[in-house]
Amino acid sequence: MGKDRLGGRPEVRLRQRVSDAADRYSWHGRRHGHKLRPRRRALIETLLPKLAVECPEGGGLDAAALFDSGKEDKKELWLEIGFGAGEHLAAQAQAHPDVGFIGCEPFVNGIATLLGLIEDRNLGNIRIYPDDARLLFSHLPEAGFERVFILFPDPWPKTRHHKRRLISPETLDHLARVMKDGGTLHFASDHMEYVRWTLDHVTRHPAFRWTASSAADWRRPRPGTPVTRYEKKATDRGLKPAYLTFCRRPRNTSEG
Ligand SMILES: C[S@@+](CC[C@H](N)C(=O)[O-])C[C@H]1O[C@@H](n2cnc3c(N)ncnc32)[C@H](O)[C@@H]1O
Repeated sequence: MGKDRLGGRPEVRLRQRVSDAADRYSWHGRRHGHKLRPRRRALIETLLPKLAVECPEGGGLDAAALFDSGKEDKKELWLEIGFGAGEHLAAQAQAHPDVGFIGCEPFVNGIATLLGLIEDRNLGNIRIYPDDARLLFSHLPEAGFERVFILFPDPWPKTRHHKRRLISPETLDHLARVMKDGGTLHFASDHMEYVRWTLDHVTRHPAFRWTASSAADWRRPRPGTPVTRYEKKATDRGLKPAYLTFCRRPRNTSEG
């Protein structure tokens, strides 16, 4: 077996033991970029194993217990899917030390960058699922999460690739299950066709409602929200992203 870019062992060191969900999803994004610098490689070797979320075989994950160590007890759990280089996740974690964060991202270079931010800022409230979030969903507890972030997801613009999009009826069913009543799903994109796709899919789902009451609500980011790398790339090119917030309806009035 060939050496990988971490230098020596196959990338499987990062892979979780996952359920048979792995058979249903094929990953089409990148897992590796440029060769990791020594510090980042060391963080993958030493810090990631301490922070990585493992899916129990055939069972549910006690997400709150990931943070349950006395002073680290968390009031809320927030989930970010596709955190990229982790700048949003790290800034939110720093701003909300009483919240426990789970970030999902299969791109090793992005994970390594986030680990650098965690170490530099001494952040104790982030756990990382270093793989496709869709493999984690069925292990997450029902009604566990107050907020979910999907920021600048890959738009897969070609029609034949639309089935690769993260926003899908199946993903929304999972999010509806794992989000608390009144919890919020935050989506942003500069790809307007994907924005329309998302609005269409989420507003058709019985568990969610779009919270916007005026154009300003989706044309501007929420005040104080950390800017992501892809958001900056888009605005630097003069694009105007859309920011959609959806609320998880109370269970007793939506699906009973
Ligand atoms: C276009 S980048 C945006 C990254 C970051 N959110 C930002 O705004 O800068 C999309 C990221 O989502 C990740 N991603 C795509 N599908 C994912 C999935 N199913 N689970 C976890 N991460 C995913 C990709 O690896 C990539 O890093």
